[in-house]
Amino acid sequence: MAAYASAAEPIEPIPETSPAERVVADVQAIGAPAADAERVRDSVPLWFHTFALAPGVYTPGIARDHGYRLAVLGADRFAGRSVLDVGAFDGFYSFLAEVRGARRVVAVDNEQYVDWVRARFGVTLTGGAGFRAIAGLLASRVEYRRMDALDVRELGERFDVALCFGILHRTCWRRGAKSCSRPTARAWPPTPRRSRFTTRATYTRAMTSSTGASPRRACVDWRGSSASTS
Ligand SMILES: C[S@@+](CC[C@H](N)C(=O)[O-])C[C@H]1O[C@@H](n2cnc3c(N)ncnc32)[C@H](O)[C@@H]1O
Repeated sequence: MAAYASAAEPIEPIPETSPAERVVADVQAIGAPAADAERVRDSVPLWFHTFALAPGVYTPGIARDHGYRLAVLGADRFAGRSVLDVGAFDGFYSFLAEVRGARRVVAVDNEQYVDWVRARFGVTLTGGAGFRAIAGLLASRVEYRRMDALDVRELGERFDVALCFGILHRTCWRRGAKSCSRPTARAWPPTPRRSRFTTRATYTRAMTSSTGASPRRACVDWRGSSASTS
């Protein structure tokens, strides 16, 4: 994401949260007292994920089109299992795994989104701020590590489930994720064929649908990406 920064590029307005993302957020309604919910919402200058903090109080997440994922993230996938969430950002899926019965969840992110958010929206984020804010509200036991996907073997653990949403096109995750998954572990989503992002057009489509990025921005990412899928 480092290649995002360019002095000549205009700063974009922060997109409004889509109603569809509120529906996704409602699957793990936190139910905090309104005052706590508003404090947490306002403590982070930009949210990626939309969380339902209290009735009518949502974090204004910029992520889009996450609803399709829920169908494969039922309690049967998580209950009693250990889960690694790679590229967790604010941690929506880490906390979902915990709420749905995972016995242990580790969230990993190299926090490159800090540079992306600054370059795209002119907002300065503290890495992990959204994650920590939600973890506090939930009294969560999810462990957060600032770490690159390629280094997850340093965790020295094997996980039953590895979540790699919105990151497969950015990194050769298999080298890292395979090193800490049990032989029987199923990663979700499945690894795309190497050819999936071989053209700028397919990469742009993937970026715009999974992150809400503008096609122009997605192309910047394409140029700056070191994804081994390219
Ligand atoms: C598009 S967001 C996806 C967030 C979340 N997984 C989801 O799908 O809702 C991509 C996230 O992956 C992180 N990321 C990108 N490359 C990474 C890498 N090589 N190692 C760890 N995290 C990475 C970014 O910092 C960002 O938080």
